[in-house]
Amino acid sequence: MQKRLMVQGRLSDAQLGELSDLFKVDVLAKTSALDAPENRALLAEAHGIIGSGLAITPQLLDAAPNLEVIATVSVGYDNIPVDELTKRGIMLCNTPDVLTETTADTGFALVMATARRVVELAEWVKAGEWQASIGPALFGSDVHGKTLGMVGFGRIGQAVARRGALGFGMPVLYSNASPKPALERELGAKRCELNQLLAEADFVCVTVPLTAETEHLIGAKEFAQMKPTGIFINIARGKVVDEAALIHALENGAIQAAGLDVFEQEPLAASSTLPTMANVVALPHIGSATHETRDAMAQRAVNNIRLALQGERPISLVNQETYQ
Ligand code: DGY
Repeated sequence: MQKRLMVQGRLSDAQLGELSDLFKVDVLAKTSALDAPENRALLAEAHGIIGSGLAITPQLLDAAPNLEVIATVSVGYDNIPVDELTKRGIMLCNTPDVLTETTADTGFALVMATARRVVELAEWVKAGEWQASIGPALFGSDVHGKTLGMVGFGRIGQAVARRGALGFGMPVLYSNASPKPALERELGAKRCELNQLLAEADFVCVTVPLTAETEHLIGAKEFAQMKPTGIFINIARGKVVDEAALIHALENGAIQAAGLDVFEQEPLAASSTLPTMANVVALPHIGSATHETRDAMAQRAVNNIRLALQGERPISLVNQETYQ
């Protein structure tokens, strides 16, 4: 019997073809939830689910008794209850590596845009305000030579640090559960406690995954420890930061600016003040959003689910214990 899989999200025709050659593929309508009434029958028969932003709950898993694997087209999987999957012997695959450099590019774009006020000043030019040479009120801050503080030093954090250290001569501090001696040698990076990093860094860039331990890791106390000239960058997950405390810090001058790709609520609520603030660059979660990288992520997810459903070890398996 052919195995069956549900696709939610965008795969190329070639990728869909690759899966359809091997499996019975059900592509869901873009707006249709996995467990919507019209999908219940598919869910009951599905051996695999592939897609991005998948809303997986224990109830949904109850409705999918044949499920063997979930392949998320993302490196993050904070939206997926991994322990529940593991308990049921369901594999979870993600897409690390292929998005590292692109996401680091996004991080560095935010470093540059916030420090040099790129968006604010481009808007100012568009509005026809450029009538004379600009003065100090519109000057930005240097990036080169400033201290870059990385909160989290995994693949993406290291790639941002490499850009800063090698491209912009930035001393790098990092806080991370484990030391990274190779990177310390390569970049001269120094591991320190979060408190020290917050106090000494000119740019504080968050790249930790969202877990129970990192939720609201950065709040009022942490912003108060940053330099008033400090710039805060978040390319991890919105919930790592207490957004109300961030807004307060930006409004009262506790920090200079913020570059944000991620938010507690996505898409941002219309009532959010963040995008209206001159010292904020807010992006719509574009970390990995280039044609090349999204295609590579989708292909990694396709390879993962194909291998898993054929009984082989997927390339990027999160819960290793599910593969015998
Ligand atoms: C990821 O892969 O987790 C990214 O945040 C999605 O863009």
